[in-house]
Amino acid sequence: MIGRLNHVGVATPSIEQSVALYRDMLGATKIHDKFSMEEQGVWVCFVDLPNSQIELIEPIDDTSPVAGFLKQNPAGGQHHICFEVDDIIAARDEMVAKGARVLGTGEPRIGAHGTPIIFIHPKDMGGVLVELMQSP
Ligand code: CO
Repeated sequence: MIGRLNHVGVATPSIEQSVALYRDMLGATKIHDKFSMEEQGVWVCFVDLPNSQIELIEPIDDTSPVAGFLKQNPAGGQHHICFEVDDIIAARDEMVAKGARVLGTGEPRIGAHGTPIIFIHPKDMGGVLVELMQSP
């Protein structure tokens, strides 16, 4: 079921500071404009890598779940990893059948790439928050 690593989500208190790190320290050259995902209460900015992306996530305000993450990790840090799947509903049903918990309503929502996504509870994935995303 698991497909390509689409991106690694990184929470940050400042997308601008993180962009500077990836650009100036690591030499990233393809950095997209940041945009807001109001329903999730976050700013998002993708940094393109040759084989994947980094998804920088900054909370818009204190009500965002990412704001809670930053309270625990004030400097920011790795937040989730995202794997592509061919069929999000089939993947969700398979995960649930295997005993994993899907966060939120359990129904896919549209993610930052415009395709349906779900998140699997980190306690069911060895401590890693896993996003599954239907391939673009
Ligand atoms: Co993501």
